[in-house]
Amino acid sequence: MRAIVTGGAGFLGGHLCRELVGRGLEVVAVDDLSTGRVANLAAVEGAPGFRFLEHDVSEPFEVDGPVDAVLHFASPASPPDYLARPIETLRVGSTGTQHTLELARRNGARYLLASTSEVYGDPLVHPQAETYWGNVNPVGPRSVYDEAKRFAEAMATAYRRTHGVDVKIARIFNTYGPGLRPADGRAVPNFIAQALAGEPLTIYGDGSQTRSFCFVDDEVQGLLGLLLSDWSGGPMNIGNPEEHTILELARLVIALTGSSSDIAFRPLPVDDPVRRCPDIALARRELGWKPTVTLTEGLRRTISWFCDQVGNESHR
Ligand SMILES: NC(=O)c1ccc[n+]([C@@H]2O[C@H](COP(=O)([O-])OP(=O)(O)OC[C@H]3O[C@@H](n4cnc5c(N)ncnc54)[C@H](O)[C@@H]3O)[C@@H](O)[C@H]2O)c1
Repeated sequence: MRAIVTGGAGFLGGHLCRELVGRGLEVVAVDDLSTGRVANLAAVEGAPGFRFLEHDVSEPFEVDGPVDAVLHFASPASPPDYLARPIETLRVGSTGTQHTLELARRNGARYLLASTSEVYGDPLVHPQAETYWGNVNPVGPRSVYDEAKRFAEAMATAYRRTHGVDVKIARIFNTYGPGLRPADGRAVPNFIAQALAGEPLTIYGDGSQTRSFCFVDDEVQGLLGLLLSDWSGGPMNIGNPEEHTILELARLVIALTGSSSDIAFRPLPVDDPVRRCPDIALARRELGWKPTVTLTEGLRRTISWFCDQVGNESHR
């Protein structure tokens, strides 16, 4: 089996490539390196059947040889990244999605779209099940990401209905783990980098907003479970249903790093969701999947990876 992973040099893409290669698949990672790093592919570089193709998937592209699965993960994902690249984000979610769907259609390949909990916007229903249609501001600053992903879901669904492409849509909730850039801008890497540097941990708002954090190994198992399943219904939430406030997360990171950092409170960004938690009943029923790594254990492993990076940097 041969899989194409767009965004393969990103945080999730790198983990997916490693797991796919580990399962004996041939993998082509396609990435324009806008937010990704070749270092995320270090574990698979040189593996038989692995290839890296530097390309912007918003421009047309073809891949030589057989294609059995297309995993479309290319997109800026952290708020600072997509706010700095608004048009590129809309393009990769729209034109880029169509290019990857065409690749799947031409090859009769199965297709996995990396969608997001952001399609629920600032949700009015809690926890969020796939049947909830969301509460998204279509013209707010975050809309470039949220609406790009909503369009991508609509486009993928149209390819299933019109061309019979075997489309799966994963609504990914906050995922963290080794491989995240310290300057990524999302809460977990921000807090860990700040705690290790002895700087105040920055909380936007009063910290009472909730998120659910899924360790990357769990997320990858859920995503590949969905890709390889017979599920032909609509989108599926893949995330951790355990809800934590941002303040709890900050305090846990301070405790686990043994840091003496304080917490600094800053104004809440526009349209920042107040509560975010997946209902994963569908994934449990259809895939038999649920997260297994606790937040404390996942943070320990992530902090340890961050410490190794700092150690490596200081030895260069
Ligand atoms: N990590 C999460 O918590 C999370 C949550 C929800 C959804 N997702 C989705 O998962 C996917 C991966 O997210 P991530 O956290 O690994 O982010 P990331 O920024 O680490 O990875 C994204 C990758 O896509 C590449 N890319 C961006 N635009 C591209 C283009 N036009 N052509 C080719 N490559 C391009 C980047 O260079 C990067 O390697 C994204 O689609 C994101 O929306 C992630």
